[in-house]
Amino acid sequence: MNGIFISFEGPDGSGKTTQINRLKDYLTAKGCKVIVTREPGGTPISEKIRTILLDPENKEMHGVTEALLYAASRAQHVAEKIKPALAEGCIVLCDRFMDSSIAYQGYARKLGDDIRIINEFAVQGFMPDITFFMNLKASEGIARVDAQGSRDRLEQEAMDFHNAVYDGYIALSEIYKDRFVNIDASRSIEEISADIIAKYEEYVLSRENR
Ligand code: ADP
Ligand code: TYD
Repeated sequence: MNGIFISFEGPDGSGKTTQINRLKDYLTAKGCKVIVTREPGGTPISEKIRTILLDPENKEMHGVTEALLYAASRAQHVAEKIKPALAEGCIVLCDRFMDSSIAYQGYARKLGDDIRIINEFAVQGFMPDITFFMNLKASEGIARVDAQGSRDRLEQEAMDFHNAVYDGYIALSEIYKDRFVNIDASRSIEEISADIIAKYEEYVLSRENR
């Protein structure tokens, strides 16, 4: 694969979408072929699964059902969209990937290591080259979500859940030190964007020298 697979992770409202759009503009201006996509979603089948997952009406959804639906959405997304784009040499910017399942379903829903196992099956061991972790306290992220509009099914969870998601990400950033890039997401949009671009360029240089 000659493309680059970049995921953005972090609590709800941590600024992932904002920063993905800015990095996309930067890369497009440089003449790179860029694809922006998201999870759950990114393909017609995966977007249908997204609708089921985020619908606030689906209050009875079992945690295991939820975990399997996220993994199913991801399996389709990787096979139909991400891998073919990388094979064509695109830079793929993905709003959330497998780390979200580990943080939300593994840590916050307390489903543990089974989440890693079902997702490794879903993606057949395929992982991002680099992951920008938007490090923002869960309460600050949720405050931004509330300022913006209504909450989806996951965002409606209690604050304890969101704090456990945050702790999950901190644990993941320790485990995957080589892939995770910790970004202080409490700064201004411009400062964060400059930091992400600098870290991206550093990564590309180190990859070329490998
Ligand atoms: P996410 O995709 O992680 O949920 P968004 O990029 O949609 O986050 O941002 C959530 C809200 O916070 C939006 O209203 C956005 O304009 C705002 N926002 C994004 N980045 C910042 C920032 N650095 N400081 C303050 N507000 C921000
Ligand atoms: P998203 O639309 O990215 O939410 P936000 O922009 O607020 O960050 O993601 C939808 C929700 O799905 C979000 O609350 C996180 C959750 N989620 C999981 O619980 N597990 C997963 O594997 C993924 C990809 C997302």
